[in-house]
Amino acid sequence: MSSALTTAITYGTYDLFHIGHVNLFRRIKERWDRLIVAVSTDEFNALKGKQSAVPFADRIELVRACRYVDLAIPETCWEQKADDIRRHQVQAFVMGDDWLGKFDELKALCEVVYLPRTEGVSSSELKQYIRA
Ligand code: CTP
Repeated sequence: MSSALTTAITYGTYDLFHIGHVNLFRRIKERWDRLIVAVSTDEFNALKGKQSAVPFADRIELVRACRYVDLAIPETCWEQKADDIRRHQVQAFVMGDDWLGKFDELKALCEVVYLPRTEGVSSSELKQYIRA
């Protein structure tokens, strides 16, 4: 049975969950009915050479607790995006515009949208600020 509700999906680490993440989720929910957020696991981040301050179990719980998020799932590898889009009947793959053009191959499966980032905040900058 097909649903009339539209679904968007987005991916990220969401370390030190901040206002840039909330703004992205809110903007997505202004355009699509449901939001699925895939949160990078610690193992996947290690493959990317990234290490988060907050462990995966806590990061996904924080994302799940955000009112704009309908479903939070783990992101464990680069290749899962196409499977997720098909499995969850996704209409739009959405990322901040620091990823502009990087996922255009997914246009074969659904709409691909890059939204403007919130200026002046990032997980890396927060970590630098805390360390200083
Ligand atoms: N994002 C955003 N505005 C910000 C920071 C992030 O819209 N100020 C978006 C990114 O474009 C991405 C998602 O949030 O689509 C998850 O980004 P993530 O890498 O987890 O957050 P950053 O703060 O960008 O982390 P880092 O500094 O480690 O890159």
